[in-house]
Amino acid sequence: MLFRSKLIPTPNGTQAMIHKTQIGIVGAGPSGLLLSRLLALQGIDSIVVERQSRAYVEGRIRAGVLEQGTMDLLDEAQVGERMHTEGLLHVGVDLCFNGKRHAIDFVDLTGGKTVMVYGQTEVTKDLNNALDAAGAQIVYEAEAVTVDGFDSDQPFIRYRKDGEAHEIQCDYIAGCDGFHGVSRRSIPAERIQLFERVYPFAWLGILAETPPVSDELIYANSDRGFALFSMRSKTLSRLYIQCAPDEEIDEWSDERIWEELAHRLDEEGANKLTPAPLLEKSITPMRSFVAEPMRFGNMFLVGDAAHIVPPTGAKGLNLAAADVRYLSRALVDHYKKADDGRLDRYSDTCLRRIWKAQRFSWWLTTLMHRFPEASPFERRTQLAELDFVTSTETGARSLAENYVGLPFDD
Ligand code: APR
Ligand code: PHB
Repeated sequence: MLFRSKLIPTPNGTQAMIHKTQIGIVGAGPSGLLLSRLLALQGIDSIVVERQSRAYVEGRIRAGVLEQGTMDLLDEAQVGERMHTEGLLHVGVDLCFNGKRHAIDFVDLTGGKTVMVYGQTEVTKDLNNALDAAGAQIVYEAEAVTVDGFDSDQPFIRYRKDGEAHEIQCDYIAGCDGFHGVSRRSIPAERIQLFERVYPFAWLGILAETPPVSDELIYANSDRGFALFSMRSKTLSRLYIQCAPDEEIDEWSDERIWEELAHRLDEEGANKLTPAPLLEKSITPMRSFVAEPMRFGNMFLVGDAAHIVPPTGAKGLNLAAADVRYLSRALVDHYKKADDGRLDRYSDTCLRRIWKAQRFSWWLTTLMHRFPEASPFERRTQLAELDFVTSTETGARSLAENYVGLPFDD
């Protein structure tokens, strides 16, 4: 690298600040931050460009279940310390239907595997703190971000910050900018294939300072619809209710939310549910989405930029972490061993895992929710499948293996 940053004139007579790096990363969500961190630990230089402020990114509440593979990757990134002390290890989940709760024991069914309940918000903070301490380059509140030149050997990211034009020249672009980002949208339609399923319901999510009703997460299928009883700590509950996708959040008073949660749970759980003031309340639409391929010349799509899962099963963050794992290893092979095998396989390797997680998330969503158009026959077969999953080892093991996370391929 001859220079890191310098000011040069542009063709229209103004000036632009040019920056050089190895990997230009768009988006400072978990994918972009984790990638930057893992690369830095291997001596690979990156710059992250984020459209929102740091406070906004750190404040977003998302799912909070980490697979063992994600925990291992956070350890590898040397950001796992707080997760190990404050996170809650979970040895199974409960499924509730016909008013009864059934335990699925991950440890027994998967040969000792567990998951960790630790909020994505905390993961983001831990990553940001580590990146700060190491002097990482993260540009927040970047405007008019564009990606270009990825079919050449000098891709670039342009943006404006405080009224000034900037250009990052890099070897590779990592599009870590989520579902609404600019990276995927910069690909001509004929080069990308999109697969999508939108569900006829949404989740109303709340955060409340009340102890969880159970040590384990409860996924509840009731005649009134789905509910999930999750947590962030021993005193903080994260709870979700299936609602209509076009529902107005104001139609859900606190009282109505607590009543509905109790109706969807078994009697013992409902008695333990202690209403408390809400710290957060929001509605999330549900979709399954995959973009193929995930590499376009020298640009790679990572995480939510390439795929969205419905939140049932909490695979979103784990899939994003798996993409980052593959891409960081591939870039290390490129720079340290001059071996591009993993880079060339990136898209295929990621998509194999993604489609299996898509299948599982779609299946668990279909198993647990009330579909508005479901016939009485379909409702009966749904309950029969729940019975199969909770009363046979084959059924339970299939759920458990997918929930704790399938093995990595590469
Ligand atoms: N320019 C720069 N940054 C952008 C742009 C843009 N044009 N568009 C979006 N971004 C930023 C967003 O503001 C966000 O901070 O990219 C980031 C993408 O972060 P996420 O949406 O969190 O996606 P990702 O990092 O892949 O994380 C996946 O997040 O959505 C959950 O369930 C998902 O837990 C999973 C995780
Ligand atoms: C959460 O705690 O936010 C959560 C847990 C499990 C899920 C989805 C969300 O399947």
